[in-house]
Amino acid sequence: MIKYIDTIEGITPQQLEGFFVGWLEPLKQEKHFELFEKSDYFWLAIDEDNNKVVGFITAISDKVLSAYIPLLEVVPSQQGKGIGRKLVELMLDTLKSYYMIDLVCDEDKTPFYKKYGMCKATAMMFRNYDKQGGK
Ligand SMILES: CC(C)(COP(=O)(O)OP(=O)(O)OC[C@H]1O[C@@H](n2cnc3c(N)ncnc32)[C@H](O)[C@@H]1OP(=O)(O)O)[C@@H](O)C(=O)NCCC(=O)NCCS
Repeated sequence: MIKYIDTIEGITPQQLEGFFVGWLEPLKQEKHFELFEKSDYFWLAIDEDNNKVVGFITAISDKVLSAYIPLLEVVPSQQGKGIGRKLVELMLDTLKSYYMIDLVCDEDKTPFYKKYGMCKATAMMFRNYDKQGGK
């Protein structure tokens, strides 16, 4: 069974394994954990069979008008089971009082986000690739 929580109470960095697939410099477990400590909002998917985190979504916000979703990931072995859908639904519900809810994604992910009422827009971005592991 998968459970969904929005707290890090009882969660340790060691429960975070197998994320940032394809990244040149994947975040270390402690840095990954720090994302949840410092994000305004997050949801975790926990596999109750082994107590591992198998998916997460984060959001940052000005707490007035807008929120941005920087990260969503489900570990490859658990993809295609509805976990990503649930994480997006939970986060969109968490953020429902904001006017703007934005994210940036690759073209191949646009059908996924359209399922939740999101629409395509043009984004601009800048990446410091030497900082990919976190500061
Ligand atoms: C994108 C991602 C989060 C989806 O999570 P998931 O748990 O595999 O997705 P779900 O099983 O909940 O799928 C929900 C729906 O989206 C569809 N879907 C899943 N991935 C999709 C994709 N890449 N493109 C289009 N549709 C997709 C599923 O078919 C399903 O449709 P249905 O409800 O009509 O059956 C996951 O593939 C992932 O972690 N990818 C790597 C990281 C990543 O790309 N994150 C997004 C960054 S913007």
